Amino acid sequence: MTDAKTIAADLRALLPRAHAPYSGVQVACAVESADGRVHEGVNVENAAYPQGWCAEASAIGAAVTAGPTKIVRVFVASSLPGHVWPCGGCRQKIFELAAPGCEVVSLAGDGTPERRTIEELLPLAFRLDPRQVRGG
Ligand code: THU
Repeated sequence: MTDAKTIAADLRALLPRAHAPYSGVQVACAVESADGRVHEGVNVENAAYPQGWCAEASAIGAAVTAGPTKIVRVFVASSLPGHVWPCGGCRQKIFELAAPGCEVVSLAGDGTPERRTIEELLPLAFRLDPRQVRGG
């Protein structure tokens, strides 16, 4: 497990890589896999606004690309002073790959962490059992 302080410092350094010319809000996310690897991402906005995506989506994409995984911890940092929490859609994206009790850590501008489990952030999540859907 990577030290939370190291991840927080890495995310702060990553914020300028966000492509956020429209909102001006830079967000960086780190997703920690069950095998201990950390995958990072930033938000990527687009002139056609709905085509942009969140830092969490970037980080989850990197984690999935790196190989099969369960997510055990998620860190979110932003250029705003207060705490930023994943949007509704990103909560569902995290839930899809989350190990039970997966912790989401929101880092305020001064680095202060606040923690919630994904179950707290997304109670009554939409879930499908792939075997049932496929009729197996
Ligand atoms: N954003 C994220 O990247 N993650 C969040 O959890 C909330 C919002 C981005 C989307 C958009 O580029 C900018 O923040 C302002 O909404």
